[in-house]
Amino acid sequence: MPPQLGRDPIAEVLKAMTLEEKSLMVTGAKRREVVPVATLGRKQKNITAVGGYTYPFVRLGIPAIYLSDGPAGLRIAPRRENDPNTYYCTAFPVATLVASSWDVQLAEQVGRGMGHEALEYGVDILLGPALNLHRDPLGGRSFEYYSEDPLVSGKMAAAAVQGIQSQGVGACLKHFAANNQETSRRFINTVVSERALREIYLKGFEIAVREAKPWTVMSSYNKINGVYTSESKELLETILREEWGFDGFVLSDWYGGEDAVKQMKAGNDLLMPGLAVWSNKIDSAVRHRNLEVSLVDQNISRILQVALKTPTFKNYPYSEKPNLVANARLAREAAAQSMVLLKNDSKALPLAETDKKIAAFGNYSYKLIVGGTGSGMVNNKYGVSLVQGLENAGYQLDKGLKERYQAYLTRGRPQNLKADSLITALPKLDSILGEMAIDESLIHLKAKEADLAVITIMRVFGEGGDRKLANDYYLTAEERSLLKTVSDSFHAQGKKVVVILNIGGVIEVASWRGMADAILLAWQPGQEGGNALADLISGKVNPSGKLATTFPKDYQDSPSSKNFPGTPAGEPKQVVYEEGVYVGYRYFDSFKVDPAYEFGYGLSYTTFGYKNLKLGSGTFKDKVTVTLEVTNTGNVAGREVVQVYISAPAKTMEKPLKELKGFAKTRLLQPGETQSLVFTLDAHALASFDANTSAWVADAGLYQVKVGASSQNIKQTASFTLPKSIIVQKVNKVLSPHVRIKEFSKN
Ligand code: BGC
Repeated sequence: MPPQLGRDPIAEVLKAMTLEEKSLMVTGAKRREVVPVATLGRKQKNITAVGGYTYPFVRLGIPAIYLSDGPAGLRIAPRRENDPNTYYCTAFPVATLVASSWDVQLAEQVGRGMGHEALEYGVDILLGPALNLHRDPLGGRSFEYYSEDPLVSGKMAAAAVQGIQSQGVGACLKHFAANNQETSRRFINTVVSERALREIYLKGFEIAVREAKPWTVMSSYNKINGVYTSESKELLETILREEWGFDGFVLSDWYGGEDAVKQMKAGNDLLMPGLAVWSNKIDSAVRHRNLEVSLVDQNISRILQVALKTPTFKNYPYSEKPNLVANARLAREAAAQSMVLLKNDSKALPLAETDKKIAAFGNYSYKLIVGGTGSGMVNNKYGVSLVQGLENAGYQLDKGLKERYQAYLTRGRPQNLKADSLITALPKLDSILGEMAIDESLIHLKAKEADLAVITIMRVFGEGGDRKLANDYYLTAEERSLLKTVSDSFHAQGKKVVVILNIGGVIEVASWRGMADAILLAWQPGQEGGNALADLISGKVNPSGKLATTFPKDYQDSPSSKNFPGTPAGEPKQVVYEEGVYVGYRYFDSFKVDPAYEFGYGLSYTTFGYKNLKLGSGTFKDKVTVTLEVTNTGNVAGREVVQVYISAPAKTMEKPLKELKGFAKTRLLQPGETQSLVFTLDAHALASFDANTSAWVADAGLYQVKVGASSQNIKQTASFTLPKSIIVQKVNKVLSPHVRIKEFSKN
């Protein structure tokens, strides 16, 4: 009998593999028919993992590994041949919403929930979390990603990985790296400085790799400074493995990169989803001595080490019955803890005892958009709309409006509600119905009959394309006119208007927000969205989410707008990140551009006081502790997100005005209750990346610690000095741009 995986050392298994087997092992098993032979005495798996599989080699005891999307919940095919059952998964809130909780424990719980479903459906590796940065408001996949800030992204992703992997399945950090747009996504060349790469685009991945040890990392489609990430040894070996200690395997994004041999050499261990031309090319390169077989062995060995940990290898008796009830509860809780109250004039929310009859406007008050389109979608059983949620909470919704809207909505449905589709549904905004037209006279009538109005604005998009300005970033003419008529009519009756944003990315708000009394940002809240919204609207839960991404006043204010999505126009080949490290609030703050709603912003039904900010020492040695007290100074229980920023001296390098270096969310504080918080800032928190010396350097001088309720609402400040500069860490000179980038400068 040949050596067996698990019984014999991997080196022995490798010796027994033929070259043909080896070249198949490093390319996915695209043809699903080959996968059932993986049974090896194990239960025959019937699932279609929407993602892919690795090749099984029965004679060597190597089973197929099952990889499935994605970042907002497990995506498997809900239907199977000759099977009357439907296999649903839970649509959790999208990453942008989870990040708005600023609660790493919550992100971990959501990860657990997703991991549990993967395990119980027979999947080995969940293809998430995704943590590319929100570089530009028009990014088509931004809903899959957390934030514009690398610390928030990295901490959230680390927590998600820990949650997923606590279930005994693997996570996959994607898309590594600097994959911040969908335009020309398969070949766009991202030209970016070493400093911006290290501080902004790699930082989140670094945090998640170091803190959570993901089983896998997915390289991205784009090039960085001229080289495909999947073909970049500097990225995958030097940075990811040597510098950060990653010990899992790297897989390509689906059909990513160009040259299978270069990918092998770069340490992109597995090419997905697998094509015969790739395995043939690898086979032939080894035969012609263009590729060392020892390199392929190394790639395989990394895959097999992970394979040994998988539920499939361990023959885990998966039930096909994950606890969807518990996960629905979790999805509701997660959404309610994360939504952001953007505006609340005259305490419009929570609704008063007398606010009973609600007139709901906007198509998507009646149909929730749980998440975005593409591989990040989930085949969930249901989505609770705003109106259903409000009804569940005991409110009376205007029946006439409900009938009209529901009849209108049966005429079309957004693509991401195509639950049965096995194929990645690409977004086509045109397929989504425009706002239903309503006579002004009817709106006037409703303003007399109802106690208040709610209006939902919806945006859905996803993988395969970026967004447009007209009718997407900006409101449509119909939406504007609906807002205006409803607002005028209800305000004339002394009644309030609440706007709900069920959107996957940032939209323009400054020109119309005056028409609303309250604005509640739900992002894409997962299948329990309507119930979570009702929890907040009714006051059962006090809003505690804050923005992890800036809402600019206008698109042109965004630093990336000057060169997104690259040149030449039409089908860009290259995008230059001229804004450098000035992404998101780092830009708005430093260049004094006023946003509509700043990073870190969000309202509550209560108020909080910050006091007793103290530093462990006025002089920095290896670290400095930051302590403070937060008190609920209002009348209802609530949670506060506390943010710690540092303003660093700009001696050798210019610095953003301030940068987030820590954050925490309090427990639920009763009125009058105080919680002490402690943060530790180490030398890394002080350092910036100096491309000249390829080192993280903390400049000597005065550091200000700014603790606040948002990036612009700083409550307390203290300072310490660093007497002498420190070279915190020396790293490798890699991924350098070959052209001069004219980066933004404050000077
Ligand atoms: C996406 C990945 C996804 C993969 C498998 C690709 O198109 O970019 O995020 O995991 O497909 O579905």
